[in-house]
Amino acid sequence: MNDINDPTLFEHTSRQLRNLCHEAGFPPSDDSPVELLRELLGAGGDRRLSEGPLWPSDVADDATPVEFSVALDDTGENAVRVLGEVIADQPGMAANMNAARRFLDSTARRLDIPTERFDAVQDLFLPEDPQGKFSFWYSLIFRPSAKPKVKVYFNPDVRGEDRGRELVAEGFRRLGMDDAYDAATEHSIHRGDDDRFTFFAVDLDDSPTSRVKLYISHYSATVEEAVRASQAVDGLDGEVIRDFCRVLGGDTEIYGGRPLVSSYSFVDSEPKRPGNYSLYLPIRDYVTDDAEARERVRAYLAARGSDPAGLDRAIAALTDRPLDAGRGLLAHVSLRLGQFGTGTTIYLSSEGYEVLPPRVGASAASGSVGV
Ligand code: TRP
Repeated sequence: MNDINDPTLFEHTSRQLRNLCHEAGFPPSDDSPVELLRELLGAGGDRRLSEGPLWPSDVADDATPVEFSVALDDTGENAVRVLGEVIADQPGMAANMNAARRFLDSTARRLDIPTERFDAVQDLFLPEDPQGKFSFWYSLIFRPSAKPKVKVYFNPDVRGEDRGRELVAEGFRRLGMDDAYDAATEHSIHRGDDDRFTFFAVDLDDSPTSRVKLYISHYSATVEEAVRASQAVDGLDGEVIRDFCRVLGGDTEIYGGRPLVSSYSFVDSEPKRPGNYSLYLPIRDYVTDDAEARERVRAYLAARGSDPAGLDRAIAALTDRPLDAGRGLLAHVSLRLGQFGTGTTIYLSSEGYEVLPPRVGASAASGSVGV
């Protein structure tokens, strides 16, 4: 039964996904994004939102197990993506991991997705008793009139925080990228526990641009930590990173809330050096509300010559709530730099379970110095 006042998780998120795909110019007849979302959510997708989350997923702040993202660049890829966690009917760390593997089995077969990279590292990243916040997540990547693509995010802490380095280094080796670990960590891991691995991710496709990515969180960092991390990729201009943080982070000097995150992309043809660097700024921790976040993202897009209207279309695809009534609809903004060109990606929360309240008082967690 369809109850519009209390939709199910699938009804809520599939409406948002349809709207986003529509805005991105996908043919309306293409149901594959929504079908894949249904598979990913499994039986949990049929629960009413009023019943609350089945599992405290870390994908989003309100425990919705999906987060959307859109590339908003005039020259950028026209993609809509869903980051998602598969939650078992009887959830638990191991049960979720096993359900997530079954999702891959059926999806890979149906969509003819090559799983060699997953197979090569799964015994490292999928232990019997996974630890940490999750075992692995998916990104489902949709483009107009193209077959969906799948990316897997493994958790470097899945065998405990002290094993992360070992897993990541061995993961690269298994994928024939023996030098990638040193190339990625040389410029990005300097500050003890303040620089930590976040995700080890693999694209599951066999195109030449298919990537292996390492993500590193920089706790309590300044933009200079990101600039330094970016120097692992040849020829990047640190000013571009400073501008990004200046506009989106406002007057934040130390990112003391959620961390800045760096990522490096490696491809098979050049396994020794990262071809791209990306920086993720968790804007929701550095604004009062989403109205402020929207202003900053608009200013950023306008300064880069991108059309800021795309941002409002993406927001409208998800919600019609007043933007100053909450914080976190705009969760992260990322900047992609490197040989495949630059681009901006906006990460948008589904807010299925909760709209987080605006920040009250001064920006306490932001480490901002105020004006
Ligand atoms: N919700 C988590 C966080 O904000 C994980 C996450 C979701 C994330 N999307 C992300 C981390 C994009 C970095 C970039 O940390």
